This record gives sequence, structure tokens and C-alpha cells, in this order.
Amino acid sequence: MSPSPKRVRVPDFKQKKARGEKIVMLTAYDASMARLLDQAGIDALLVGDSLGMVILGCETTLPVTLGAMLHHVRAVSRGARRALVIADMPFLSFQVSVAEAVRNAGRLIQAGAAAVKIEGGKPILETAARLVEVGIPVMGHLGLVPQSVHQLGGFRFPAGAAEAAEQLLADAQALERAGVFAVVLESVPEEAARAVTAELSIPTIGIGAGPGCDGQVLVSYDVFGLYPGPAPPFARQYANLGELMVDAARRYAQDVREGRFPGGQKQAAPSPAGSAQP
Ligand code: KIV
Repeated sequence: MSPSPKRVRVPDFKQKKARGEKIVMLTAYDASMARLLDQAGIDALLVGDSLGMVILGCETTLPVTLGAMLHHVRAVSRGARRALVIADMPFLSFQVSVAEAVRNAGRLIQAGAAAVKIEGGKPILETAARLVEVGIPVMGHLGLVPQSVHQLGGFRFPAGAAEAAEQLLADAQALERAGVFAVVLESVPEEAARAVTAELSIPTIGIGAGPGCDGQVLVSYDVFGLYPGPAPPFARQYANLGELMVDAARRYAQDVREGRFPGGQKQAAPSPAGSAQP
């Protein structure tokens, strides 16, 4: 096995911003995927509660439990050697009380995460500050906060409102003061994201927030064409592994049915699938 690569650590995030180096983050949900993304040099792996949708087949992230998150965080942390592993705190694991949030965040850290991510601004400031105080690094998440999907009336950021941009900046600054080490900005207008990025000394990680952020994150299942649902408009598919898998499974089935597997040498020919987009 090759020597262990130098781990990405929480303080590296701020240093990368200071050096103008973009931070690259993807979601991961299992050890094999984590190993591959780590090998590709991805800086941070987010065990997102998006696993509710892409792994468990739910319509929202709301049914994801702390137990499910712990299960996937353990797997991802076994696969990642270099990348920083960040665990999403699922719905109801941090909103009820500060004490419960500390206990639940601590369990995610015990499961192998180096940091936790929590959604929201003002209402979670006390919790964020307490987590940081007890030594648990926190990433914020503003803009479209999927755990508030019902309050937002869908997966959207309040469109066009100048107050929304002002509130976003105020929340981001308050999170920085509370000690968070980075903030995800999801589905935020490009200009608002740029303004927040310029005002903070901690990095912003954008998803659907334009190129002005200090880093970018995407849901890996969108990047690799593994999620059958509609991908968000800002996502870019770099491979269509879903199509490759269907083709491979069809050829396997054909070989079994026609007596070529096991034992036979010849395989059913691959069909031209999985052409990569840009
Ligand atoms: O759960 C998740 O995957 C996320 C990203 C979309 C940032 O929170």
C-alpha cells in the first residue's frame, strides 16, 4: 500500500481561502465511493443527509435518522485516507436543544467524522457556538436549506428578494462569529454568494451559487449519473455510470441465461454506453 497521504484538516480550509485555492467537495455515502473520491484528490467528503434521497429513495431529507447517518459516516470514514469527512446533522438531531445537539454531534465524531454540518442561520447560532466550544468543528449551511423544504414551499431559495440577500450576509457573518469553519451556500444568487464570500474570512462552499465561492460541492450521484431523479439545473454530469451499470447488468443476465457464465470465456459484447459529458 502507498504511504498515507497528508490528511486535509479543518484549519486547511481557511488557509486554502487565504491562498486563493479552490476547495473541492463531493458527497459520499459508502467506503468504496469514499476510497475512489479520495484517490481522485477530492478535499472533503460530505456524508450528506441527501442520502435520504439518493440512497434510501425518500422524497426529502427529512426522514433521515441519526442512526442512518452514523451507519454511513462509519463507512465513509473507513474509505477516506486524505479527505476531510464531514457529517450532516439530520433533521431533529440538533434543533431540539443545545445539549442534544452536542450529544448527537459527538456521536457523529465518534463514528469517524472530523466535523459536522448544520443547516440554518440565527436559530442555530447558540448550538453552533457550543459545538465549537466543546471542540466539534462546524460547517454552516445557508440559502436553500432542504430540511425546511415545507416552510420554503419547495426546494428553492426565496427568489429575488433584496432582504433575503441581506439576511444571508447577516447570517453568514453571525455564523463566522459563532466559530464555524466554512459555510455552504446552496441555490443562492451568484451576486449574493460573491458578496458573502468577500465579507467572510472563512470559506464559502457553493452549490448552485456560482463561481464566486471559495469552493464547490455537488451530490456525487448527480456527478456520476447514478440518481434516476431529475438533477438540479446547476449540477454537471461528468459520467453516466448509471447507463454503464444497466448495460453491464444486461450483459451479465444474457451470459447467465445463455450459458456463458460461469465458465465460458466469451462475454456478451458491451454496448456503446456511458459517454461522458464535458
Ligand atoms: O445533504 C447534502 O448532500 C448537502 C449538500 C447538497 C450540500 O447538504
